[in-house]
Amino acid sequence: MLEPGMNAMIDPAKEKAGADSQTIFELLDVEKVYEVTKSEGFLKRSKRKLAALDGVRLRIDQGASMALVGESGSGKSTLLRVLLGLTEPTQGLALYRGRSVNQMREAGPDFARDVAMVYQDARGSLNPRMTVGQLIAEPLRHFGICPESDIAEQTRSLLARVGLAADVAGRYPAAMSGGQIRRVAIARALASNPTVLVADEAVSGLDVSTQAQLLNLLRKYRRKWG
Ligand SMILES: Nc1ncnc2c1ncn2[C@@H]1O[C@H](COP(=O)(O)OP(=O)(O)OP(=O)(O)O)[C@@H](O)[C@H]1O
Ligand SMILES: [Mg+2]
Repeated sequence: MLEPGMNAMIDPAKEKAGADSQTIFELLDVEKVYEVTKSEGFLKRSKRKLAALDGVRLRIDQGASMALVGESGSGKSTLLRVLLGLTEPTQGLALYRGRSVNQMREAGPDFARDVAMVYQDARGSLNPRMTVGQLIAEPLRHFGICPESDIAEQTRSLLARVGLAADVAGRYPAAMSGGQIRRVAIARALASNPTVLVADEAVSGLDVSTQAQLLNLLRKYRRKWG
């Protein structure tokens, strides 16, 4: 069950894949209540509870894709944060491959390598003082994906995979368009060869043709690498 005003759309092709496919993520009756400060006139403030998530259950299997659709403030980002162990749920459990996400996150770098995230604010999530090439090389080095001598080639290959020319590697984020910067964020997320890609509004606010290109790219990825 999801919040009112939020829908989950599961790829129908994958739904048919059957119950025996491996479960990657599971949310069991997740609740998230925030305490927010409400102002009641000049200098008077009171605390109020806000239920961002209430009894969310979902399961995501290997090779499936799921889209959460809902109005602003319906809890989409909160749900992703709980799923990734970045926010502790008030109630319920977030499981990754059958184990608590928090345990998995604390156990070492494997979780971060396996589960990549494209943040809602793609531009804000990237260090503006690093070039596109450096931004993509960083996870390659961090996770030891390839030897130092292959970093440049691997960076070029990741740029090509997201449809960017090799010469953007020398540019800074400020010199990239909104669509290009999302591609950079996706390339960086894919650098660690993750099993799961979590994208928070990877295409919102872009023109329709750029949205279609990015969604096709993600769809191609799912088909090719599950
Ligand atoms: N850290 C926080 N403290 C208090 N309230 C929060 C916090 N984070 C989110 N909220 C509230 O929880 C609700 C859900 O927020 P969330 O960011 O998950 O929505 P969303 O569906 O991602 O919205 P959008 O489409 O605008 O990104 C909102 O009412 C928001 O104000
Ligand atoms: Mg959001």
